Amino acid sequence: MKVLVYSTKSFEIPYLKAANDGKHNLTLIEEPLTSETAMKAIGFRAVSLFTSDNASNIVIEKLKDFGVKYITLRSVGHDNVNLFSAKKNNIQVAHVPSYSPHAVAEHAATILLALNRKLILANHRVKTFNFDLNHLIGTDLNDKTCGIIGTGKIGSVMTKIMHGFGCKLLAYDTQPNKRLSVQYNMTYVPLETLCKSADIISIHVPLNTETHHLIDKNVLALMKPNCLLVNTARGAVINTKDVIEALTKKQISGLAMDVYEFERDIFFKDCSKAIPDDDLLLKLNAMPNVLITGHQAFLTEEALNEIAKATIDNLDNWEKGKKPKNELIFKLPEVHKA
Ligand code: NAI
Repeated sequence: MKVLVYSTKSFEIPYLKAANDGKHNLTLIEEPLTSETAMKAIGFRAVSLFTSDNASNIVIEKLKDFGVKYITLRSVGHDNVNLFSAKKNNIQVAHVPSYSPHAVAEHAATILLALNRKLILANHRVKTFNFDLNHLIGTDLNDKTCGIIGTGKIGSVMTKIMHGFGCKLLAYDTQPNKRLSVQYNMTYVPLETLCKSADIISIHVPLNTETHHLIDKNVLALMKPNCLLVNTARGAVINTKDVIEALTKKQISGLAMDVYEFERDIFFKDCSKAIPDDDLLLKLNAMPNVLITGHQAFLTEEALNEIAKATIDNLDNWEKGKKPKNELIFKLPEVHKA
């Protein structure tokens, strides 16, 4: 099958080539999918997208006119694809349902530890042979209360990790997982209770109509002043303006984020020569109690292998006229079901 791979990063090319093993005719381009670049897909039956690509209704209509039949996502999250439009335009969509929940949960734990123990500042000091310890005080995680928002595949691994640190565990999820409650002595509570009680909060819900700005000023106001908030899910689960205000007013103690609400045109590229015109990001980057990584939680060898294998598997199935097991079906959100 002829496939146009948008937003190709050089680090993923060896994995994609190895998984493909010459089966499909892959054209790898660095440009993201946008309304303007959609026409590059003329003559391709499939396109492969990453989280920064924009498959909105208008873009999908263009892809359909250009003859595209399939979209295979190299990600778990699919909030950047209008599934309703894809269905309407007869374009089948598949994603990578799970590549390595460990990669993402371990990164969440990593940025939490780095934020708590001020590792970035500490390392900067040591690089200049400054071994002063002032302003490097953290807290023990042992015995602290950790709230996990979203206990699916990634949230489950995070639960296990935080249990390992000796944390008391609270969770919020629309579909509680009994096994986790029993195995890790975790209690499912309403979001408000979790926010009022937790010293650490880690977010692992997908971005959808219900989770958009789930963490806003009202919810942030409930959090404890010592609370460390970690977001490796999607930026827009947090209202960025509100969290900046909460940090400024010291309503929470710190934020570790791998995802950013307005990351689309900024992340995944070197912007050091032309600093983004984005006041919110500039404010966050200037705060000593905010640690940002650029959507790299998935970036392990194991995860890249799995992403490439699942992407090629989706294409193999479509070529054979079969439905891939990872196909995404449009469902009306609960609130819109009459
Ligand atoms: P999952 O589908 O296994 O788990 C999501 C959990 O969230 C489920 O238990 C579900 O019941 C719960 N949930 C959904 N809507 C909810 C709501 N409105 N309120 C409360 N709970 C709700 O997904 P998985 O694999 O754990 O991934 C979670 C998210 O992590 C992905 O959707 C993606 O956005 C993000 N992600 C980020 C990566 C990164 O590199 N930073 C990499 C991979 C995923």
